[in-house]
Amino acid sequence: MALLALEDLRVEYRTARGTSGAVDGVTLEVREGEVLGLVGESGCGKTTLGRAIIRVLPRNARIAGGKIVFDGVDLAALPEAEMNRYRWRSIAMVPQAAMDSLDPVYRLGDQFTEVLTVTGALTRTDARRRSLDLCDLVGLDRRRLVALALRPRLLLADEPVTALDVVVQHRILKMLRTLTAELSLSVILVTHDISVVAQTCDRMAVMYAGNIVETVPTPDVFPRPRHPYTMGLQNSFPNLLAPQETLIPIEGVPPDLLHPPPGCRFAPRCPFAIDRCLVERPALRELEPGRWAACHRAEEAGALRIQSQEAERWRVPVP
Ligand SMILES: Nc1ncnc2c1ncn2[C@@H]1O[C@H](COP(=O)(O)OP(=O)(O)O)[C@@H](O)[C@H]1O
Ligand code: SF4
Ligand SMILES: [Mg+2]
Repeated sequence: MALLALEDLRVEYRTARGTSGAVDGVTLEVREGEVLGLVGESGCGKTTLGRAIIRVLPRNARIAGGKIVFDGVDLAALPEAEMNRYRWRSIAMVPQAAMDSLDPVYRLGDQFTEVLTVTGALTRTDARRRSLDLCDLVGLDRRRLVALALRPRLLLADEPVTALDVVVQHRILKMLRTLTAELSLSVILVTHDISVVAQTCDRMAVMYAGNIVETVPTPDVFPRPRHPYTMGLQNSFPNLLAPQETLIPIEGVPPDLLHPPPGCRFAPRCPFAIDRCLVERPALRELEPGRWAACHRAEEAGALRIQSQEAERWRVPVP
């Protein structure tokens, strides 16, 4: 059984301009002991999804539908007081680095206090010592591994290595893997960098504009992505394991989530969009065991992958 199963999860933000669906019907599993990479460009909804799982969303956000089934219990339906039994104790989060740690929702001091107060099991000193030991073990910034103090079963790590250079990244990600095995942790590793996933994760979920567009075991993804967005991500990041000659960016920007396109949300940037893509939203389908993609043309992925190597195809017309 999956440790965590998200079922058609929806998270909305209320803004002055209207309501936006930052997470729009996400169905996804995380297995025991698995490191799952959640990848997508900035603004795709990764942080929102992580915050929803541990239920520390900003005030203007709400879980608008769906389930967050953790160890058989739907966290989305729990009263706040009962949620405290899971938060930090069973599920912990390393918040997005740098600027985000200034976010009042996530101030590290608060996080530490919360970790210390939800449990009677550890004294303040013991909890602190344990987290520092763990930090030394992995060589990570000590303040940011407070999340592991209570030995959670699921760790949400939001862009943990984004600010670091690639050599340091590689070292830390290797240590993260070791730590995961030693602590029998399941991890959701959030990143905008697909090469980070390739180095670290068992499986990858690709997120675009609030939707999961592809899930795939990582040994398979580099040679054979099925979704054009994954192909684009692969083209646009330097890959330590399989160096490319040139990087091809995905031109354009993700859609405004207040007014998403009616069909496939990637269609305005997709080199392979056909008429159907503009009107019909592609469902996430299992194409073969363990391989899911939300693309009307997923069956043609082999041919599209070859075409996706041609830089000109990715040039979107300027409107
Ligand atoms: N507090 C907020 N209020 C309104 N919209 C927000 C808020 N936080 C994030 N968003 C919007 O939600 C979408 C997803 O953001 P986020 O989850 O941070 O994406 P990611 O982590 O993939 O960069 C973006 O369009 C972002 O502008
Ligand atoms: S459904 Fe169409 S627009 Fe969307 S990714 Fe597939 S080919 Fe591109
Ligand atoms: Mg983020």
